[in-house]
Amino acid sequence: MSETPRKILVTSALPYANGPIHLGHLLEYIQTDIWVRFHKLRGRDCTYVCADDAHGTAIMLKAEERGLSPEALIEQVKAEHERDFSDFLIEFDNYYTTHSEENRQLAEEIYTRNLDGGFITQKTIKQLYDPERGMFLADRFVCGTCPRCQAPGQYGDNCEACGATYTPAELKAPYSAISGATPVEKETTQLFFDLPRFESMLREWLDSGALQESVANKLREWLDEGLQPWDISREAPYFGFEIPGWPGKYFYVWMDAPVGYMASFRNYCDRAGLDFEEYWRVGSHAELYHFIGKDIVNFHGLFWPAMLEGAGFRQPTALFCHGFVTVNGAKMSKSRGTFIMARTYLEHLQPEYLRYYFAARLGSGVEDLDLNLDDFVQRVNSDLVGKLVNIPSRTANFVRKLGGTLPASLDNEELVRATQQRAERIAELYEEREYARAMREIMALADQANQYINEQEPWKLAKDPDSAERVLAICATAINVFRLLIIYIKPVLPELARNAEAFLQVDPLEWDDHRQLLLDHPLRKFKPLIQRVDEKQVHAMLEASASATTGQQATEAPMKEESEDDGDLINIDDFLKIRLRVARILKAEEVEGADRLLRLTLDAGEGQPRTVFAGIREKYSPGELEGRLTALVANLAPRKMKFGVSEGMVLAAGPGGRDIFLLSPDDGAEPGMEIR
Ligand code: MSP
Ligand code: ZN
Repeated sequence: MSETPRKILVTSALPYANGPIHLGHLLEYIQTDIWVRFHKLRGRDCTYVCADDAHGTAIMLKAEERGLSPEALIEQVKAEHERDFSDFLIEFDNYYTTHSEENRQLAEEIYTRNLDGGFITQKTIKQLYDPERGMFLADRFVCGTCPRCQAPGQYGDNCEACGATYTPAELKAPYSAISGATPVEKETTQLFFDLPRFESMLREWLDSGALQESVANKLREWLDEGLQPWDISREAPYFGFEIPGWPGKYFYVWMDAPVGYMASFRNYCDRAGLDFEEYWRVGSHAELYHFIGKDIVNFHGLFWPAMLEGAGFRQPTALFCHGFVTVNGAKMSKSRGTFIMARTYLEHLQPEYLRYYFAARLGSGVEDLDLNLDDFVQRVNSDLVGKLVNIPSRTANFVRKLGGTLPASLDNEELVRATQQRAERIAELYEEREYARAMREIMALADQANQYINEQEPWKLAKDPDSAERVLAICATAINVFRLLIIYIKPVLPELARNAEAFLQVDPLEWDDHRQLLLDHPLRKFKPLIQRVDEKQVHAMLEASASATTGQQATEAPMKEESEDDGDLINIDDFLKIRLRVARILKAEEVEGADRLLRLTLDAGEGQPRTVFAGIREKYSPGELEGRLTALVANLAPRKMKFGVSEGMVLAAGPGGRDIFLLSPDDGAEPGMEIR
């Protein structure tokens, strides 16, 4: 069968350049990488590009926090990202950055074409402004008290305590998350992309089959609620591209981020001799696929296709959206140690274990995927060690003892043919991103081969020198099935496949090689291709994750990865992470502008005193407190408040106001003692 040659361009979402890659991200890059490797294995012209998403306020602030220029920060993070990806065997054709000349040019071009098309409008709006920092504040950089449930410390768009949504201006006692200052409203003129003009085009796009049905439905709801013009500009200071003709205004990070796909590809075209236009012009026959998480479908399912349309570029062929990774049934959580960084994983476990586990659990839908660590250990050991690699480990040594060369004929040709015949079905499952079903097919074939070996009992026959030929034919059958399964699983386990190729002494296998058999062929000495996962390694990884994340600062710009709903019960391990210590109040002072707060200077036996703000001023006067002992939560991440940084928390009982009682250990306790 021949097909018209396909040209395929594939992307994964661009990770933000202000933090490390974690296991949640890896689901996406592994899912995409498997798909790309599958197409390449089939001999298709498939290109995989990605980049760091390097712009925006969060990155600007993070750089400042680290005392770096944004350019230095994004360069450092990009190098870390590339190392993580490469160690997880994720093979991009090009990995670039949105902070590049190509991206500037393309973002400007897309903007200018939309401007010329009349799709860019201006509007003067009121926005909250941080007078101390001299900058406008995005919603998530405004904090305050929830207007509905009064929960303090909520971000500017919704309340994590009660779920209310509101505008930052509705927050009570608002303060800037950056400086602590009270924000003021200020007028500013911004540029808007006129999304409502694209409504009918977007309805057609949603009906075109380019999106999974559940994703299309969700986006239709947005359309039904009415599209709004989209604010694509930001005021200085901002790390990004200045908008042509608007000095001091920058493209919003989400405006130039998807353009980063094009820019990375253009950068690659220049090197690889590909024709950029051929892929991006309207009517192109090349296929374009974006793999994304479910949290960013609005950007890819509405804004991006509309902007492409407005600028006269093609639409994506399809969006492939996936769900979120949970660990042991809950959102990844720093306090539980389940917020696992790629690097932490790699320090304890093999990358292919995770590639296989994700593949074994992934379908084409948008459901979340739970990384259950017991299941992970069990699945990897039983499938990869107990089934797949078991085939050569039970047969290879007999071949070696009998001369080391596979014979010219098989003992059970039917079994091998049956395994060959599943190739098309498995290929379809890969193509449809039904990896879990593909893995099930492959493991069922491995089961058959193992059962065949069980029945033939070559170890018994091998004792009889007259059965040598029979033993070789049995082993040749098993090794041929193994070789086919390696072809089928190669997109998931490229490294294991490489070692298997070395053992089989064959050139890198391609998909079509499943039509051939391996006969009359010498084998290399068999070395174990994979090790069992030991539960202890998993525990060590969790422990390392927990300690890697506790020391982190709470002053980081709030990122979505860090919000967790820990509404469930905590277990003893969680509780034991809280370190409580006796502290002596050296000084207590009133805080100007805060009627309820006292600034406490505490001696917690650490040599250096700590500052903690406590809402106990209505009950206690400073003089009453100085010299007293109290209980301190010693390992709470420092919190930046309006009046300074609070380095812990003192324990008190009661609802607050005048009804609050500071907990005090009896005399005799010493500052620094652990409370248990
Ligand atoms: N920078 C944007 C994407 C711009 S694309 C033009 C972004 N970056 S991200 O680093 O937050 O996420 C990158 C990808 O990883 C997204 O597709 C996101 O959905 C995915 N994931 C991040 N955390 C995830 C999980 N916990 N689970 C699964 N995927 C997750 O968004
Ligand atoms: Zn609330």
